[in-house]
Amino acid sequence: MARCFVTRELPGPALDRLRARHEVEVWAERLPPPYEELAARAANAEGLLTLLTDRVDAALIEHCPVLRAISNYAVGYDNIDVDAAAARGIAVGNTPDVLTEATADLTFALLLAAARKLPEAMSAVAQGDWVTWEPGRYLGAAVQGSVLGIVGMGRIGRAVARRALGFDMTVLFIGGGGLDSRASSATVSEVSLEALLADSDFVSLHCPLTPATHHLIDADALARMRPTAILINTSRGPIVDQQAFTRALLSGQIAGAALDVTDPEPPAPRDPLLSAPNLLVVPHIGSATRPARERMSELAVENLLAGLDGRPMPHQVQAVR
Ligand code: DGY
Repeated sequence: MARCFVTRELPGPALDRLRARHEVEVWAERLPPPYEELAARAANAEGLLTLLTDRVDAALIEHCPVLRAISNYAVGYDNIDVDAAAARGIAVGNTPDVLTEATADLTFALLLAAARKLPEAMSAVAQGDWVTWEPGRYLGAAVQGSVLGIVGMGRIGRAVARRALGFDMTVLFIGGGGLDSRASSATVSEVSLEALLADSDFVSLHCPLTPATHHLIDADALARMRPTAILINTSRGPIVDQQAFTRALLSGQIAGAALDVTDPEPPAPRDPLLSAPNLLVVPHIGSATRPARERMSELAVENLLAGLDGRPMPHQVQAVR
């Protein structure tokens, strides 16, 4: 029986399977354990089940002499120093696939909501400002027939592309392997980042956060976008240089944005970003359907059980460079 620290309660019954085999301590608070607390609890643990809000860096790993397996409850694992774990022979797992369609759905929900100015229209109704039918208010962008630029054509990017084809959109992309066999490629092309930014009506980010993608969307990239363009980010906040992005939004350099992720999360209450009128923000809910989150729990537990048994994890990650 191994000692495991789990940094939050998880949806569904999966943690019971871990409890049946191992000694499990679960951090029961709503907020994540502070870094020092995480380090203290991890110090005696053989297994760690972490969330994307937990920083598992080289210093923490160094102070965990018996740690053998880390299972991250997310597809992204930029919160974990995978190299430091590998150097110690500690397996690291993540939860891909089971959240792909949920995240692609949310991407499309954000795209449609931003294009059609739903936040502005909803707040007008809530404030009693629906006084009549007006020809010239809430005029949004057309989605059908527009151009969608996908940055990162991995599993989620491809699922977004499939949805886009249903809206007769042209898809431009960078990164990843292109479309799978379920979608036609007639209106899908791989282009340079510069061309994607210049030619897209909507730009949607789906790449992992790595040193190479940190601040990929900076002032220069934003300047290449159309003034009518809308940026959608359901990947990781730091892929966008948020200061440059705030300036671009507030000055009208781009038309709008819809974010599931920010840098930091959550943004400070007085973050100037939040004063942008053309912005829609939701609290990192891309994978938040009950089935997706419960499958993530199952996969995270399967990964940890395998790692503690010394078996390959069903989804074991390598460092991304
Ligand atoms: C992930 O899995 O990386 C998402 O950001 C949360 O589900």
